[in-house]
This record gives sequence, structure tokens and C-alpha cells, in this order.
Amino acid sequence: MSEHVFIGAAWPYANGALHLGHIAGAYLPADIFARYHRLKGDKVLMVSGSDQHGAPITIRAEKESTTPQEVAAKYHRQFIDCWEKLGISFDLFTTTGTLNHAQVTHDVFLTLLNNGHIYRDKMLQAYCPKCQRFLPDRYLEGTCPYCGYTKARGDECDRCGRPLNPWELKDLHCYLCSTPPRFESSEHFFLRLPSFQDKLTAWIKEQTHWRHNVLSTTWKFLDEGLKDRAITRDLDWGVTVPQSGFERKRIYVWFEAVIGYLSASKEWAKSQGDDSAWQAFWQGDANSFYFIGKDNIFFHTLVWPAMLMGYGGLNLPYDVPANEFLTIEGRKLSTSRGWAIWLPDYLERYEPDSLRYALAANMPETGDSDFSWHEFLRRNNNELVATYGNLVHRILTFAQRNFDGVVPAPGELDGSSQGLLHRAEVTLHAVDKLLCRCEFKGAIKEAMSLAQEANRYLDEQAPWKTIKTERKASAKSVYTVLSVLAALKTVFYPFLPFSSEKLHSFLGFDGSAKEAGWKIQLLPPGQILRQPQPLFIKLDEDIVAKESDRLRSPREDQKFEY
Ligand code: MF3
Ligand code: ZN
Repeated sequence: MSEHVFIGAAWPYANGALHLGHIAGAYLPADIFARYHRLKGDKVLMVSGSDQHGAPITIRAEKESTTPQEVAAKYHRQFIDCWEKLGISFDLFTTTGTLNHAQVTHDVFLTLLNNGHIYRDKMLQAYCPKCQRFLPDRYLEGTCPYCGYTKARGDECDRCGRPLNPWELKDLHCYLCSTPPRFESSEHFFLRLPSFQDKLTAWIKEQTHWRHNVLSTTWKFLDEGLKDRAITRDLDWGVTVPQSGFERKRIYVWFEAVIGYLSASKEWAKSQGDDSAWQAFWQGDANSFYFIGKDNIFFHTLVWPAMLMGYGGLNLPYDVPANEFLTIEGRKLSTSRGWAIWLPDYLERYEPDSLRYALAANMPETGDSDFSWHEFLRRNNNELVATYGNLVHRILTFAQRNFDGVVPAPGELDGSSQGLLHRAEVTLHAVDKLLCRCEFKGAIKEAMSLAQEANRYLDEQAPWKTIKTERKASAKSVYTVLSVLAALKTVFYPFLPFSSEKLHSFLGFDGSAKEAGWKIQLLPPGQILRQPQPLFIKLDEDIVAKESDRLRSPREDQKFEY
């Protein structure tokens, strides 16, 4: 029976290019999961959008003497271009700058206010006397009261990951000019998180299927006790506050960004011509999955669920399979130092499936993992080209030359051929199980080992020898391997959609791999194969040195805060 699966992926700040950390952390796993469920015949709604508010955008605009609108618009266009080229198949990728988003945010805000979950109070807000402005949390720097890190920001400590309020920091100063701020009293709205402590605790206890790291991070926050959180700021860039007297204030970026999941679903519904189509994904037995990096866990496992509980009538997350971090060549990724591999640069030079493969095979699911160009080259050349691509090429060109480009009739299958076909079935089920549990690394490994198995079979059977003496035996092994290719294009589809579409076509199938379903498509003898092309391109060893140089000398314009 088909299920409704809602897939949300973290909303990237539209203040700079996407890098491999974003892709490995959230977008690739979300896309693999979406493609898998669509193949299974489930109804999928996968959304996200540019997070265009908040200090990351205004800081960038100030540095470049431009407007936040322009910064956001530029990167939003770039994101969409990247999704297209990398094959990240959102049903909708919108922005937090739409009228619809503001309306949905206002509705959530007012409902929480009416239900007593939001209250109004005075708060001290940092004001820099030198810069003559209120300072958003991100513009404040000081020492973390928990771990002693001296470059903690007013909203969180980038070392221990704890969310902070500016006044908790020691040696607090303006991030722009180092002047200690003065605090001025200002009226704001607050979310009563502590009143959800018990409900959240009971709910988290039920989430035994969540990843260990997600649960342990969540418990850490619950054990420390939740605190009230200010959800408005003295700012002029953001979603307005639907209350009089608050004209010069805005809703805090994190409070409204998570609402994006809901507003985007409503926008998608409208675009389908059915305003209520979003409900099937948010109510009843639909399951929702949120793909994020581990730095966003607090907002997705506690804040957003509390907001949903307070709002009422909408599903809580079913799973939040947050990934750990991707390090680059053994070092922590840092956009401000330019230690990153930018997706637009990658896509200019290499194939999307090579990156999808390298990142999925080494996904930071249960711990941090490292990306190195050397390893990228090895995975591309040894695994994609030499194992999978070579299998495909050998058998397809052989069939062209010796069987007139037609799927031969297999005759009676011997034990080892039956064994391999059985193995293909087993792989389909194993990958299925792993993918539905969001175990991507394990799943892609299973898929690749079927290709290895098929190579071994092919070497053993050597149809290029039997073709001269025993044409029937040769036909049998060609048929068997072609059938395994039909399995491989399916199990690899969520990971390597571009190559699966090609292989689908080479095998002579009509339509697309995307529509063929999660099954081993039967390959009828007599089906006409299409002229094959190499599935993957072998990369030259020298890219490792070239890319390492690029990494070590980043362009100035590619470095940015956050
Ligand atoms: N923009 C935030 C970041 O890049 C993520 C926001 S996720 C959302 O860290 F769900 F809150 F939108
Ligand atoms: Zn200042």
C-alpha cells in the first residue's frame, strides 16, 4: 500500500555557495530517500528552501555593500541550479521570503499566542554604542559559560553546540568593532519551552528507532532543562511580528525557518491546484522525515516539535536522521577560512553521480567522515568505472557484437546463473530494508557488492570463450548478467539517478528508470538493446594535486562567515 512520506531538508542560508558538507549532511540523504520512496510507489513530498533571513545574510550584505535581498536572490538562483545539476529532486524548493511563508508564520505565531504558549515580556537587547545599532545574537561574541570557548556567539557556542542567550556570555563584545555592548530594555515575545518539557520527554522516549547521536544530543538538552526562548528581535530584516507596537521588530529567524516546512507544503499544494493537498502529508498516518546536519538537532527534535504540539493537529517528526560532519582532507570544514569544496565548482568539473557515490559510500551517518580527493578518485576509478561501469560495458558491447544487440534466450539456467539471479533478488530486499531505515552507507555497499558478484560470475563463465564453442552457454550467461544489470539500475537509482537512467535505456527499456518501480524488471528475450556508452568516466590521477592546490589557496570571495 502506498504511504505518504513527507521529507524536509534543512533550509540553507542564502548567504554563500553550497559545499560538500551541506550535501553529505542533508541534501543527498534526503534525495536518496525521496527517490527510493517514489520508486516504491509511495507518495512523496520533499521540500526545502532558502533561509533568507538572519544574521548570516545581513552580515554578508554589509560586507559586500549590497542589500540582503540581493544576496538572498543571488544564492537562491545558484541553489536551484545546483539541485538541477546534482539531481536533488525537490518537489518544491522555495524561500522564506514569500508572502505565503509570512502568512503561515503569522498563523502559527498567533495560534501559539492564543493557546498561551507565547508571552510578551521585556528583554535586554544588546546595543553597540559605537556602531549605533541593536546587535543580533550572531553579532555578539564572548566566552561560553559552559566550555570556555572564547569565540562563542550570542546564539550558540560553535564548540560545544549549546544554544545561548547573549547575556550568558562572558567578556561580551560587538563582533564588528569589539566594543562591549550596552543592554537596553526592549519588548519581545517568548516561547514557553519549559511547559513542553514533560510532553517532549514522553515523546522522545518513544523514539527508539532514532539514530543514537540524535537521541543523545536531544537528551542532553532535555536533561539540562529547556528554557524560555525569545522569538522576536530588534531588526528590520525578517518576517514581521503580527502585533501592534512591533513594527520595528521581526520574528527570530529560527522560529520562522522551521515553519518553512509547513508553509512550503502549503505553497506546493497551491501549485498543484489543490489547496488542501498538503494535509495528506501532515495529518493521519503520514510519516515525516527531517534531514539535517547535527548542528540543527535542537531545533528539529525539540523546538519544532514543541511548536507543533502547541499548534495542534499536525504530525510530529517520525524521524530526524541527522548526519554528523564531513571533514575535508582530515580537517574541519570552515567557510570563513575557505576550507571547503564548493558545489558549483565541483559541478563545473565533474559528474554528479561520482560525487553522489563518493558521499553516499562514506556518509557521516554514525560519526564524522572525511572527504579527500584521493579517495574520491579511488571510488570513481576503482568502484564506479572498474567494477560497475566495466561490468555494464563488457556485457553490453559483447551482446551487440555477438547477439545482434538483442537479449538472447537463456535456455536452461545452471546453478551458478540461478545463484546470481537469486543474489540479485536478495540484494533488492537488503537495499530496500536498509534504505527504509535511512542506512545509506550500508545500502550502497550492498548494491556495489552485487556488481562485484556479477563480475566474478562473468569472469568464471567467460562467454567470450564459450561463444565459439557453445553458443547456448554464452547466451545463458549474457542473459543472466543483463538481468542483473536490470537489478543494478534499480538498486542504484536512488544513489546514481543519472547513470541508472542511461542503463535503463541501454537495456532497451522504454520510459524511465524513475517510473519503473522498485523491482527487478523482467528482460524479455528478443528485447532490443540500445547502443551503450560508458556509464562513468575515468579520472586522471592529476586531479588530486590540482584540487588540493585549489583547496589550499581559496579565493577571497569564497570565504564567508557562518
Ligand atoms: N539555515 C539554517 C542553517 O543553515 C538551517 C535552518 S533549517 C530550518 O543552519 F529548518 F530551520 F529551516
Ligand atoms: Zn560595534
